[in-house]
Amino acid sequence: MEVRVRFMMVLGATILSFVMASAVSADVSFPNSEIVLDMMTLSDAVYYLKNKVSSCNDPQAENKTLASSTREEVLSAHIHDDDSVHQKERIYLRRLQDDNQQHNNLFDTLLPEGTSCLHYSHDYDLGTQVLVVRSSIHKYVSVVYTGTDDFTTALMDGEILMGKFGPTTNTTGDSNRSDFEKLFDQVPEDAHVHRGFNSAVFESNHFTEVLECVTSAKVGGDCDGADKRRSAQVSTELGSSTTYQVLTSGHSLGAADSILLGAALHLVFPSEHIQSINFGCPKIGNTELVYWLDSLQSVQSDKDGSLEVFRFVNKLDLVPRLPDLIFFQHAGHTLQMSIGGEIRAYYNHFGDETLGYSGVPFGWDAEPYVLFPLAIYAHHHKHYVEYLQDYAPKSNASLKEQGAFYFVQDFERVENNQGAETSPTVVESE
Ligand SMILES: *[C@@H]1O[C@H](CO)[C@@H](O)[C@H](O)[C@H]1NC(C)=O
Ligand SMILES: *[C@@H]1O[C@H](CO)[C@@H](O)[C@H](O)[C@H]1NC(C)=O
Ligand SMILES: *[C@@H]1O[C@H](CO)[C@@H](O)[C@H](O)[C@H]1NC(C)=O
Ligand SMILES: *[C@@H]1O[C@H](CO)[C@@H](O)[C@H](O)[C@H]1NC(C)=O
Repeated sequence: MEVRVRFMMVLGATILSFVMASAVSADVSFPNSEIVLDMMTLSDAVYYLKNKVSSCNDPQAENKTLASSTREEVLSAHIHDDDSVHQKERIYLRRLQDDNQQHNNLFDTLLPEGTSCLHYSHDYDLGTQVLVVRSSIHKYVSVVYTGTDDFTTALMDGEILMGKFGPTTNTTGDSNRSDFEKLFDQVPEDAHVHRGFNSAVFESNHFTEVLECVTSAKVGGDCDGADKRRSAQVSTELGSSTTYQVLTSGHSLGAADSILLGAALHLVFPSEHIQSINFGCPKIGNTELVYWLDSLQSVQSDKDGSLEVFRFVNKLDLVPRLPDLIFFQHAGHTLQMSIGGEIRAYYNHFGDETLGYSGVPFGWDAEPYVLFPLAIYAHHHKHYVEYLQDYAPKSNASLKEQGAFYFVQDFERVENNQGAETSPTVVESE
């Protein structure tokens, strides 16, 4: 049986009249630029922790030589002779360059201001690195995953296996499944995910620790891997009734992992508003999975809580166009970073006609192949860091009031984007 695809193009006039008639709007809270920059900095930082420390309280984190060589490593990756104009704008890098800052501790050097390391682990078999931090400034707990080095190749060449989303349960012991495993009964049977993404999250040796850490940290508690030096700060926070917003993040494979973890956390904490803010995310699974993930958004959900996914895409980055298979789809909103600093948000990637939101431009998937080496280049996490640093709105108080505190705050509307790509309709024929 052959699967053929038909793009249903709807044009100007019909859409316009339809949009005027429907005043429905989606009340989506976009993350502000400071949160986005924190997530980007963290997604970058996890790469630099690799093989240097094994946990948040690893004594090597206090090794001054290591902290200072890592600082040099980050700076040399980002400072180029040809773009001195931009350098001074990069807050994160400026902090690294500042000689008055103490760069004695690896986590202090790499993590954004106000965040503390609660858990860090690296599962060497699966290659999964995961970091859990808490921000005392922005009041979030974030779980951040990394990708692997040969990821693009794997997505392009590898045979792609799909499976059920969630922990691999042992069917023979159905009655003995954990409460956690039972939560996944809510996921539709036919919602299938890329098996590699799924196992990176759920088969990691450290998955239980991550889950326990988020549970504890979101109400101000400690984690196994908590940095002992910071226990004073944590206990002060415990005294208050502050709860922290749960965020997930990551780059590349880590971005896909962050969506899957976000969905799992939504099942565990159905009344929380969880956001996955990620970078260079590949397509995650089949239409049924994406339909289910999108149904967890605040607009669509009948629960108190929600899962909202924001995927940043750097220009022609190839990975978000992969796997190049028609039944693979994107969950959540596409935030397309274009040349010159403009970021356009596409509601659920393909838009929503009834809400008046446009999908990504026609040909969005195919363009990177024309500019192939550039499309690989655009995927690197350092280019995401540089772009977001360079174009971050300068967040001063008056700008916050004007709402200029966001990279983007509205979705592209249909009337501005005729010729958008709409959801592919799969037509089966013999
Ligand atoms: C500190 O880190 C450096 C660089 O990684 C390493 O060569 C050195 O052995 C470390 N020192 C200690 C005391 O572990
Ligand atoms: C279920 O668990 C048993 C005992 O650990 C094991 O022998 C069996 O292979 C498992 N089955 C599956 C489908 O994983
Ligand atoms: C379920 O757990 C019970 C008690 O631990 C054990 O006796 C039983 O063999 C388990 N059943 C299966 C199907 O694994
Ligand atoms: C905040 O930004 C506005 C617009 O760029 C600028 O006019 C104003 O001087 C800035 N205020 C401060 C305190 O930097």
